[in-house]
Amino acid sequence: MEEESDKTDEKSTNIRNEKSLEEINESPAVRQEAEKPKKEVPIVFSSSEWFSAKRWSNNPFTFSILPSLFVGYKEQTSRLMLFLEEKHKFLLVVGPTGSGKTTLLKWIQGNLPGSDTLYIGKPPETPADFVDIFNDKFKAPWFLRPFSPKIKNIYQVPDFLNKRLKKKHLVVFIDEIHEADLEILEWLRVLGDQVDNISFLLSGLPSFDHDLSTKLETFRKRITAKIELLSLTKEETQQLIQRRIQHVGGQGNEFPQDVVDFIYSRSGGFPREVLRLCDEFINQAILKGSPDISLDLLGGVTEEKIEQQVYLDVLEKMTPMQREILEVLAQKPLSPGQIANSLNLEKYKSRQHAVRSVNNILKFLLKQDYVERQQFEKTFVYSLTPKIKTLMVKA
Ligand SMILES: Nc1ncnc2c1ncn2[C@@H]1O[C@H](COP(=O)(O)OP(=O)(O)OP(=O)(O)O)[C@@H](O)[C@H]1O
Ligand SMILES: [Mg+2]
Repeated sequence: MEEESDKTDEKSTNIRNEKSLEEINESPAVRQEAEKPKKEVPIVFSSSEWFSAKRWSNNPFTFSILPSLFVGYKEQTSRLMLFLEEKHKFLLVVGPTGSGKTTLLKWIQGNLPGSDTLYIGKPPETPADFVDIFNDKFKAPWFLRPFSPKIKNIYQVPDFLNKRLKKKHLVVFIDEIHEADLEILEWLRVLGDQVDNISFLLSGLPSFDHDLSTKLETFRKRITAKIELLSLTKEETQQLIQRRIQHVGGQGNEFPQDVVDFIYSRSGGFPREVLRLCDEFINQAILKGSPDISLDLLGGVTEEKIEQQVYLDVLEKMTPMQREILEVLAQKPLSPGQIANSLNLEKYKSRQHAVRSVNNILKFLLKQDYVERQQFEKTFVYSLTPKIKTLMVKA
């Protein structure tokens, strides 16, 4: 009995299976699936497989500093090179984080004919550190070291440099200058005044310029030229992408024109942002199993990214005064009167005029949602909204 019932069960199961397979094969869902073009089935790549299929040695869009791939900023570099050739003492490059200051400095260092150079990645913490920096720069070959003179304290530096340099011109690059203490800036001023053949090319965030005007105007007055970096043009953005790809062994045309246009409009040509978007396209291609870069890879562009672009554009279109106020507020929240005090009042008939003008600009910034305010007794204190703060970031 048991055997019988087993068999019957098996048979009925088989019949059921056959029937259901037919049913499934006939179902519209399966037909649709079979009719789908093959490319829709994602091929899963590992990143190294994806790169080697493109004959790229690795991801070209990391944030590494590659001065040899420097593009654009032609006007700024020509001016800087000219001023350095003319041996001006102090030049300043300012730009927001990621605008290309370090890359520009390193590019100039590698392309300056006839001058000796020294790149300092961050200002020394104490003036005494200059002693080590210059001893190291001018150290003699090891076998002569016991006999060669060394600087013992900061006061000896100017004399030592004059003797060592003679007619030779030395260009000292100091990056991240916004981090320098007042004492360091004062010593820089002394070195600039007392060493005949030295030039300093300083670079930092835009807030540095404002800091100088309030803390050390005597130094600010010595700066021959202030060069601003912000963003690349569309052609330069394309060039940046092309050069980066060629650097890792690719053709350079792997990003189609519509993708480049998209990247430019989203990044505003802001170099670090260009790299970040390119990287995102590549990662999406790898994750989605797409062998090529295409616009639809970033179909779901987030609101956050669009906003970021809007703000980059906004910053570029602002008047110097509007930007100055935003930069002041990036330091700390202030009342209109305090803002006016920190501005250069020479342009105004009186302090009252300055406050009025500050108030007008604040009204505009408030309307655009770039600043917000809080009332403390009778005064309003203004601060930046989080959106604009990311752009005014102080490293
Ligand atoms: N003109 C340019 N040409 C090619 N690449 C650039 C250019 N400017 C910047 N980049 C690239 O963009 C990235 C950011 O540049 P960089 O680090 O020089 O900016 P920064 O202004 O020094 O930023 P931070 O203030 O954060 O130090 C780097 O990877 C750099 O290689
Ligand atoms: Mg830098």
